[in-house]
Amino acid sequence: MFPVAGLGTRFLPATKSIPKEMLPIVDKPLIQYAVEEALEAGIETLIFVTNPRKRAIQEYFARDEALQSHLLAQGQHELHARIHDIIPAHVSTAYVIQSQALGLGHAVWCAKSLVGNEPFAVLLADDLIRAPATGCLKQMVDEYHATGVGSIGVEEVPASMTDRYGIVSVERADDGRDYIREIVEKPSAEKAPSRLGVVGRYILPGEIFALLETVRAGVGGEIQLTDAIAAQLTSQRLLAHAFDGVRYDCGSRQGFIRATVDYALEHADLRADLLAHLATLKR
Ligand code: UTP
Repeated sequence: MFPVAGLGTRFLPATKSIPKEMLPIVDKPLIQYAVEEALEAGIETLIFVTNPRKRAIQEYFARDEALQSHLLAQGQHELHARIHDIIPAHVSTAYVIQSQALGLGHAVWCAKSLVGNEPFAVLLADDLIRAPATGCLKQMVDEYHATGVGSIGVEEVPASMTDRYGIVSVERADDGRDYIREIVEKPSAEKAPSRLGVVGRYILPGEIFALLETVRAGVGGEIQLTDAIAAQLTSQRLLAHAFDGVRYDCGSRQGFIRATVDYALEHADLRADLLAHLATLKR
């Protein structure tokens, strides 16, 4: 599930008409990186929770036969390959409308009837994760298959930034894995139970939907996924997954720019030019 219905106010005015998940890092929108990560993890049903005023994501993933024919006719085979198989034929997509941006928990709840009582994954595309070998979600799915327990992606955040994240405290079990003891939304540094911040990757049990129905608006007047997860912990264990990889907070301009530079440096045709340009910059 890809909740993409947020207002993205930190990227106004760009996000006035397009979701922030459509902003490109080099030449691919953020949402495509997340979709590729889900496909690598073996996911075969993609659910997008979208904003009624922004249809760009649905349009992006629809096949564009006219453009494909045009590129083929022009002999642009490399460009054709980039667009023709973004979503493979065996993978299905569904779109759910979140009519008001009432928070991430509410966005997830909107897809309740499509998911049913199955465990499911949630990816927030504005958390872009560059993993060395195995993508973050595949790491989590592999762990799920090994343990039968859902998980949340976590990483250490600076003490000064605990109030921007869900923060978990963990308990190391005999199996060497870290189980979540407590989760709190956006605590101050003094109240934070640790510095382990939640990033936008979750494998959750279907029971979370019933809990989302009972939680009230929390921090910021939004229905927080964190509050439903906290309630879930009283009956079901969840792991904290400290993923292998680098995360870019592309919901912030700083993180977005860092990701753009790092991903551009990985493109053979851009690297030398970018390095030469960066070398000319004065501090
Ligand atoms: P953010 O907390 O980054 O909020 O959402 P936002 O509205 O997108 O951005 P800012 O803070 O105004 O700049 C985290 C994720 O949850 C989704 C967003 O699309 C993003 O992927 N979300 C958030 C929803 O789908 N619906 C909501 O009501 C809120």
